[in-house]
Amino acid sequence: MTTYAGLKVAADEHWRDLTEGERPWVRVGTAICGHAAGALDTVAALRAKLDSSDIDARVDEVGCLGICFAEPLVDVTMPGGARLFFCNVGVGDVDEIVDGYLKTGTIPSEGVIGYLAEDGQSPIEGVADMGDLPQIGRQRCVALRNAGTTAPADVYQYLARGGYAGLNRALTAMQPDEVIEEMKSSGLRGRGGAAFPTGLKWSFMTKGENPKYILCNCEEGDPGAFNDKTILESDPYTTMEGMTIAGYATGASNGIIFIRHGHDGPIDRTEAAIRQAYETGLLGENILGTDFSFDIEVSLTGESYVAGEETAFMEAVEGHRSMPRARPPFPAAFGVWGRPSTINNVKTLSYAPSILEHGAEWFSGIGVNKSTGTAIICLSGNITYPGLYEVPMGLTIGEVINEIGGGVPEGRSLKLLQTGGPLGGVLGGQSTEVHLDFDEMSAAGAILGSGGIIVADDRTCAVDLTRVLVAFCQFESCGKCFPCRLGTTNLLEIVERICRHEDRPGDVELMKKLGKTMQAGSLCGHGQLGFNPIESAIKHFESDFRTHMEEWRCPTGSCRRPAYAPVNTRPFAEVPIGEPTAPVELAPELAGR
Ligand SMILES: Cc1cc2nc3c(=O)[nH]c(=O)nc-3n(C[C@H](O)[C@H](O)[C@H](O)COP(=O)(O)O)c2cc1C
Ligand code: SF4
Repeated sequence: MTTYAGLKVAADEHWRDLTEGERPWVRVGTAICGHAAGALDTVAALRAKLDSSDIDARVDEVGCLGICFAEPLVDVTMPGGARLFFCNVGVGDVDEIVDGYLKTGTIPSEGVIGYLAEDGQSPIEGVADMGDLPQIGRQRCVALRNAGTTAPADVYQYLARGGYAGLNRALTAMQPDEVIEEMKSSGLRGRGGAAFPTGLKWSFMTKGENPKYILCNCEEGDPGAFNDKTILESDPYTTMEGMTIAGYATGASNGIIFIRHGHDGPIDRTEAAIRQAYETGLLGENILGTDFSFDIEVSLTGESYVAGEETAFMEAVEGHRSMPRARPPFPAAFGVWGRPSTINNVKTLSYAPSILEHGAEWFSGIGVNKSTGTAIICLSGNITYPGLYEVPMGLTIGEVINEIGGGVPEGRSLKLLQTGGPLGGVLGGQSTEVHLDFDEMSAAGAILGSGGIIVADDRTCAVDLTRVLVAFCQFESCGKCFPCRLGTTNLLEIVERICRHEDRPGDVELMKKLGKTMQAGSLCGHGQLGFNPIESAIKHFESDFRTHMEEWRCPTGSCRRPAYAPVNTRPFAEVPIGEPTAPVELAPELAGR
């Protein structure tokens, strides 16, 4: 019979062997950011070099530490020592790491970003402490506590670092309703967009016969969001343990992790972790020797943004086209295959193990107001240090952008922020005092949503960016209900003609009317929120719109009227054709669209 105590003893021994044993331990970040930076070539070169040398070192592929700008990131733990991190390691840098540091202990003068020491470990002389970097030191990792540190499919590494302590406490010392109370007291709110209280959601599904389902949402189709996939890629056990806790609390027998297809890193690593969890008695019958049994499987979506909406998600799991269902009935009563179901985001579920391990009070002590815990921010765009940063709720957006992200590069100024995915809306550059707080952000006219913050500098045209967001919403509309299907198409037509300086009198009023109809009449959040990007852009960047509509020019030169386009409402002579008023220098992420 598998017991938690037995597994923990084996895990601690395994960890001692990794960190204090005879062999150096080399970890290479190969999550999506490392992958994009060439880490798969780096790790292959590293293994080949070690095979041809007389050095006996263990190499593990790990996930993302958050500092995506430093990828490929390689770190070496000499027996009993601290971790020394080499950044932006290309294939050509591998010899120096192996022949230099691993063989002789020589630290190269370039390419080292710092060291990280655990309790009792000595600093590495002459090297910066990574904890002093704001990108590391200002993080407060809960859901991402193992990311970049443990190998994603080595359950013993997860157990050694406190994994399954939360589930063990729930199964052996708590009744299911006590687990739900603990979640309610923690103040945890869903991280999938709507910020609904998680404990309350779980309490809706305590009745009813099995099979009941815990559904984990890793569709994550928002441009600029990569946190859910990174969690599964870096530490799938955290999410799986959270699902198992949710299963125990609600009396559910089954879990399904729904991942957007084509993302092989999260898919493969989650499936490998599930296999190992079955082998070690952490899934299946009588988990950890108790009466509780729970199964988890992976299901894949097609490429559809709307498949992340909870009822469309259930249609997709059932093998149908992912179109939302009308509610009621709600998922807790009639979910996947008509069975009671509870759906949560990856991040939401990944907090549960730490809440159960350390207690609700510990979790609610992090954060601010009714936004407890941490925010997991995907920072991208015109920013010096793009990355994935888990920070306490309550930090200001300015602290995230300027202190952690290093501000806007190349001496440019901050113009706008696109937060919470395409439906979330935009904030102006003056919004840096807004706090990471669900309610404060929504009062400011944007949402924290999935945690993506895309930073745009002064070369960005707010109208042009709005066009891109509206085009996304129009393309992704599933077409089931007409207010969204036609509304997004009409909105796009209008924004496109504003970009072409062919707007008609009353276009802004018309967009507002369309937005109201979409909000009132659409079946799901996609159409209901579809006017957000336009509404928030007009609120914060009215002058950009005015310049397009009253002066018929684009303030940044991004929008140019094609020479062939017909002119609808203005005398031809009044329209400046092909004469941008500023140098046509597009921000890199806007170029090529
Ligand atoms: C168009 C649309 C797309 C969505 N996509 C996602 C998604 O990719 N991931 C996600 O967790 N929630 C997504 N949601 C929100 C889900 O419907 C649901 O509220 C969420 O998964 C619940 O989890 P939570 O309570 O943990 O936040 C989307 C909602 C809409 C309207
Ligand atoms: S609101 Fe849009 S995405 Fe949602 S069901 Fe209607 S058409 Fe589909």
